[in-house]
Amino acid sequence: TPGGSDAAKRRAGEHAADLVTDGDTVGLGTGSTAAHAIRALGQAVEDGLDIRGVATSYASRDLAREVGVPLVDLGAVERIDVAIDGADQVSDDLALIKGGGAAHAREKVVDAAAERFVVVADPSKEASLLDRSVPVEVLPDARGTVRRAIRELDGTPTLRAAERKDGPVVTDNGNLVLDCEFGAISDPAALATDLATLPGVVEHGLFVDLADEVHVGHADGVTVRRA
Ligand code: A5P
Repeated sequence: TPGGSDAAKRRAGEHAADLVTDGDTVGLGTGSTAAHAIRALGQAVEDGLDIRGVATSYASRDLAREVGVPLVDLGAVERIDVAIDGADQVSDDLALIKGGGAAHAREKVVDAAAERFVVVADPSKEASLLDRSVPVEVLPDARGTVRRAIRELDGTPTLRAAERKDGPVVTDNGNLVLDCEFGAISDPAALATDLATLPGVVEHGLFVDLADEVHVGHADGVTVRRA
């Protein structure tokens, strides 16, 4: 489990899973916190809950299968009732950095389509201003031109390397990831627009005005912040 306490993550994930009701189409996020929600949903399905899950990555699809959450293909879905997803960082006004697991392109499609997008996190993710690196998924052949454009936006891009392979991380969509340092991001909406309009950028990990609520797990319970 990368960072944060697993007990806090589990509390947040289970708390969010409790919001899901019969008949819901549910976005299944990626990462160690969302995984707790998927496991809780598997248990609820075993106990009779009637839902369909929409996976945001190979990893969340495999876990959903393992725990018995029925799945529908994202390509066949037009609306989602509730999405439960983790984040790498959450600001005071609920802007997010996502993509630590390189799943942010599919995550954004799912989370943005949800009537209710619930972020699950532990306290290590909370920040007044976003200041972690922003993952940017790029077409492989655009990595050079996007790298230069990121520098022109005063960012420092690094091609994400795979851990147990010589070479780069390849996303579930067959693309590459540039992790881009911008320091403290005072205007995430403006940076989001700048990144989104660069040719060759498939998706970036800034999620602005998308989260409806954040459930943060603590040692003694869960706090909920709403947008
Ligand atoms: C996946 O690409 C990310 O957006 C994850 O949602 C994020 O990294 C959170 O993961 P953890 O819950 O494991 O911290």
